[in-house]
Amino acid sequence: MGNGILSLSYLIGSVSFIYGLKMLSHPDTARRGNLYAAVGMTLAIFATIFLYTDKDGVGLGNYTWIFAGLIIGSIIGTIIAKKVLMTAMPQMVSLFNGMGGACAAIISIVEFKHMIHSGVTVADEPVLTTVILLGLVIGTVSFTGSMIAFGKLNGNIRDKMLPMQQVINIGLLVVIFSLLIGIVTGWIGGDNPMGMMYALLAISALYGVLFVMPIGGADMPVVISLLNSFTGMAAAFGGFMYDNSVMLTGGILVGSAGTVLTVLMCNAMNRSLLNVIVGAFGGQQGGGATGASGGTYKEISVSDLAVLMLYSKNVVIVPGYGLAVAQAQHTCHELEKVLDQNGVEVKYAIHPVAGRMPGHMNVLLAEADVSYDKLKEMEEINPEFSQTDVVLVLGANDVVNPAAKKDPSSPIYGMPILDVEDAAHIIVNKRSMKPGYAGIENQLFFEPKTSMLFGDAKDVLNKLVSEIKSIA
Ligand code: TAP
Repeated sequence: MGNGILSLSYLIGSVSFIYGLKMLSHPDTARRGNLYAAVGMTLAIFATIFLYTDKDGVGLGNYTWIFAGLIIGSIIGTIIAKKVLMTAMPQMVSLFNGMGGACAAIISIVEFKHMIHSGVTVADEPVLTTVILLGLVIGTVSFTGSMIAFGKLNGNIRDKMLPMQQVINIGLLVVIFSLLIGIVTGWIGGDNPMGMMYALLAISALYGVLFVMPIGGADMPVVISLLNSFTGMAAAFGGFMYDNSVMLTGGILVGSAGTVLTVLMCNAMNRSLLNVIVGAFGGQQGGGATGASGGTYKEISVSDLAVLMLYSKNVVIVPGYGLAVAQAQHTCHELEKVLDQNGVEVKYAIHPVAGRMPGHMNVLLAEADVSYDKLKEMEEINPEFSQTDVVLVLGANDVVNPAAKKDPSSPIYGMPILDVEDAAHIIVNKRSMKPGYAGIENQLFFEPKTSMLFGDAKDVLNKLVSEIKSIA
């Protein structure tokens, strides 16, 4: 009876994950989708705690430990999630993802010990041993890799490339697979492979660090998504190990969603995954170096821009990372409303990798209640720039850099960009002439049609809105 209800809870949990994930694909339903999946997960957790019994009919027990962990984890998770700034979201995802990887690795260690101490040898259970060890390797790589990614995004760790880094990494992978095959076949470790299991754990931990260490800062979101899919895979191995359908479904969903997202991001940047992994692209030099072309640029005042906008038929706003930094989304929406009231049509041009995470700009603007109909994807808006009077670039840089189309030597060459150059007037708001995250200069700023409007996006927008209101 108990097991029947447990299976039913797992079925409901699995369906809620799939349904919730589907709902995440549209902003209107995303919040509810998240909630449905969370309810399904909660049901699966409590059903396991209270209804699971082993083959001898013994339940989990250890309720004090389980609930202490649940309560402490829930409090810490809630506080972190409530406090985190939108701009620090990738770090948080990385941290939480690392915890998932660590869980999968710890489960593998416990189950391996349990198997050996209960007198079962590797030769008796080669498939189970393979699943346990794969969960151990992938979970550990995901944990240490995610911690390094967290440190890099948080500015605590710099990109670092060892001499012959890629050779060392490939060497470590060969050692990991040799150990894994050796333990499973009994060539290494024999009847007591515990020591070899710990060696595998240590080398996997080192590989996770060295795998992420040289990857460029601007590529971190792609790496986090890749590590996310690793954690999903490790959890799916756990589900296989325990014959637990909800863990298996959850793991497969996370694994496949992470893989799809990784591929989508690489496509949006027109780069291969291999190029991301070995490319050392972007990073701390981005935002630090100064523009070096020595070209001349012109500036525009807030009052001149207010007049220009009021005399325009249509304005396209290009939001970027700087808008998120300035937390200027609400003021930006106010500008849109004030222009709208004065008969100026306003649209937003959304580049797929603007900001620092997938959908960053959509989430940011949705927070300020900007209508989803006004958000136009790159493919849709690009042909419209030639009929646009004013483009206002707010804290975006790389996603409007024409070098991606014109300069084959540029690291972003080939990345699809927003064709803002085609508009009649281009106004760029940022605080200085410093480059964006890819660390490269932007020739757009020196074009005759471009005017710079320096300052923090929120301050500038506040002034612009007041100015428009005062003259309209
Ligand atoms: P960036 O190229 O990073 O440029 C952002 C600009 O915002 C900077 O040049 C900065 O210039 C300006 N800024 C910063 N704070 C500001 C503030 N308070 N007010 C006004 N401006 C401010 O941003 P982007 O165009 O959105 O491009 C995203 C980059 O991240 C791309 O290189 C992309 O490949 C990379 N990336 C993104 C993703 C995803 S999924 N989104 C994934 C991987 C990589 P100042 O310092 O002069 O103000």
